[in-house]
Amino acid sequence: MTEPVFDSARFRQVLGHFPTGVCVVSAMVDDAPVGMAIGSFFSISLDPPLVGFCAGKTSSTWPKLHGAGRFCASILADDQEDVCRVFASKEPDKFSGIGWDHSPLGSPRLKGALAWIDCELDAVHEAGDHDIAVGAVHDLHVEHEGKPLVFFRGGYGV
Ligand SMILES: Cc1cc2nc3c(=O)[nH]c(=O)nc-3n(C[C@H](O)[C@H](O)[C@H](O)COP(=O)(O)O)c2cc1C
Repeated sequence: MTEPVFDSARFRQVLGHFPTGVCVVSAMVDDAPVGMAIGSFFSISLDPPLVGFCAGKTSSTWPKLHGAGRFCASILADDQEDVCRVFASKEPDKFSGIGWDHSPLGSPRLKGALAWIDCELDAVHEAGDHDIAVGAVHDLHVEHEGKPLVFFRGGYGV
């Protein structure tokens, strides 16, 4: 591979022009809910149904999600910017003050989210400073037809 001819600031700036939705990927670990904000969530395959996300290797939540072997992705609505900020933080108890219940597979599912996707962790692939997590979808549902929270050029909304 040739050496890149740009710095990490340029990488962030250019990729920031690709707008993404935001979800919270969460799991239960020892009866406690854990989760993190994820903008890299993507649909992979219809048959079998697979989805994925990229998790940073420095995340303290990702090893817990990995160990749980399952996760639920809650797709955030446009009025859940505050929820996104909490789940993008390193607060020890991100779920205090957050409404949630259990998905069919027992993972945390956030109240007020547009939709949820309940998965078993199917595979993990290394990719640079991130891991690519692949989830086998067990069940999924749209909760309400609101507008999504969008992340674009380092901020919320377009
Ligand atoms: C809009 C948005 C999208 C994010 N997307 C990702 C992502 O796709 N993958 C990732 O590893 N971190 C992503 N993050 C950062 C993580 O949410 C954050 O680093 C993590 O929750 C830090 O806490 P932890 O150490 O408890 O995991 C995103 C943050 C924001 C605000």
